[in-house]
Amino acid sequence: MTKLEIKIIETKPFDGQKPGTSGLRKKVTEVMNGNYLGNFVQSIFNVLPKDKLKGSTLVVGGDGRYYNKQAIQLIFQIAAANGVGKILVGQNGLLSTPAISAIVRARQALGAIILTASHNPGGPKGDFGIKYNQSNGGPAPESITNAIYKETTTITQIHSAENVNVSDLYTLQSHEWEGFTVEVIDSVSDYLTLLKSVFDFPSIKKFATDPTKNFRFNFDAMSGVTGVYGKRIFSDELGFPESCLINCIPSEDFNGGHPDPNLTYAPELVRKMNNGEFDMGCASDGDGDRNMILGNRFFLNPSDSVALIAANYQAIPYFRNGLKGLARSMPTSAALERVATDLKVPFFEVPTGWKFFGNLMDADTLSICGEESFGTGSDHIREKDGIWAIVCWLQILAFNNTTSLEEIVKKHWSKYGRNYYSRYDYEEIDTKPAEEMMKHVSAQINSQELVGKKFVGIQDNVTYEVAKCDDFEYKDPIDKSISSHQGLRIIFTDGSRIIFRLSGTGSTGATVRVYFDKYETKQDQLNNNVQIHLKSLIHIALEEISKLKQYTGRDEPNVIT
Ligand code: G6P
Ligand code: ZN
Repeated sequence: MTKLEIKIIETKPFDGQKPGTSGLRKKVTEVMNGNYLGNFVQSIFNVLPKDKLKGSTLVVGGDGRYYNKQAIQLIFQIAAANGVGKILVGQNGLLSTPAISAIVRARQALGAIILTASHNPGGPKGDFGIKYNQSNGGPAPESITNAIYKETTTITQIHSAENVNVSDLYTLQSHEWEGFTVEVIDSVSDYLTLLKSVFDFPSIKKFATDPTKNFRFNFDAMSGVTGVYGKRIFSDELGFPESCLINCIPSEDFNGGHPDPNLTYAPELVRKMNNGEFDMGCASDGDGDRNMILGNRFFLNPSDSVALIAANYQAIPYFRNGLKGLARSMPTSAALERVATDLKVPFFEVPTGWKFFGNLMDADTLSICGEESFGTGSDHIREKDGIWAIVCWLQILAFNNTTSLEEIVKKHWSKYGRNYYSRYDYEEIDTKPAEEMMKHVSAQINSQELVGKKFVGIQDNVTYEVAKCDDFEYKDPIDKSISSHQGLRIIFTDGSRIIFRLSGTGSTGATVRVYFDKYETKQDQLNNNVQIHLKSLIHIALEEISKLKQYTGRDEPNVIT
């Protein structure tokens, strides 16, 4: 068997290799610079304990974006030289983030290196991303990512097995060197096996293919990795015709698109749904962890989606023994906690970022969770899971024997009340004015001058009185770690909320997010237009509290959800 030819490459640190909310995300042009990527990969291995690394198994794959192929070969070489025993790599380098989480868990791997910038655009001028997940299948905690960052600031050497190269990532086979194997695995199998244990596939198939129902379904993979999964799962397994699947060929630049499933970046799907062409339409982001779900001329807000999945848990075999707990990120609407109260299960409010759910799941206190940012998931893995969310909704429709999502959601609102909810995104703002605006709001919070302040709504003439405001801080109930400065919250006496946050995932300038949440129980007020219903709250946030326009010069948000 061929021996590994290990070389030591002298190197110097690069600035700015600090992983954000979901790993390191940078422009491809920056990543292609000399040892930039090699430094980061070596820094990951420098942090992992040597004894655990020796002979370990790692999973490697990504969303198929530009430069992933080169990165994969580099990871093989550095992993081999650092004692890794085996790498499981997805066919053609493709693995969705949830599938990687499933594979790490199923094969008891040490961890995974995931190559994705999620929903950010790709291509030579687009973004590249890399993150490390641990043996529970979830993103590494801050203690690890900070340690990796520290390594990047002092790194002097990269260890690389230069004779490792796998040119054929298509054929499912093993490639061996002395003490090191690369196994090319099917991108879908392990994940599909898991989903089959979570859901009742035969009942969904029966519903999907019942000619008397004529259920019309559409799935948009946005030219990301889930095209591969969509075909196998929706078409081969669940019986939908292939014509239901759009943009299902993974592309290095997502066909020039922005692979973020929301109302702005999935226009083709949104148009079809608004025309009433389908009963259910859904989309997933570049790496397959996000989801957007639409009904016939009906938008399912992600905050409602997680609340409804929880309320309908009995439809899903995986949850038939009950729920351990429910959780949402702080800016997500409060709809989920009404369900938690009703079902009498523990409820958690965590900062933005999926990693915060992982500890709760590992401690067996959390079953279903979600974020307003089109992320929904459960403890079947340790990442959010776009396809899982879509199959949840298929299962809920099948269980309720209806093709109308809207009908199910409206029934839910009339029982629990409705949280009118919207998010405004102001992307690519200069960092300075964005920070100044946040300072302006946080000054009013720190001094507590907002508490007791009354605003009269321009739309509804209602008086909104501030009950509480803070800079959200979270103490992890499991490991007791504290995360501060997780978003500025203003809570009114009627439970309405306004939240200001700076995005942790952008790669250019700053993105300001403003979130609006207003609870309504009056039966004749449950079907209003969201923007109109929230108009007063939006005005208070933008004009009275933050003076966003003055600071940033922005009249309108780029994206409204
Ligand atoms: C990623 C994380 C999510 C998080 C989102 C927030 O997608 O995986 O858990 O909600 O980023 O992004 P933001 O840009 O709002 O920081
Ligand atoms: Zn993603």
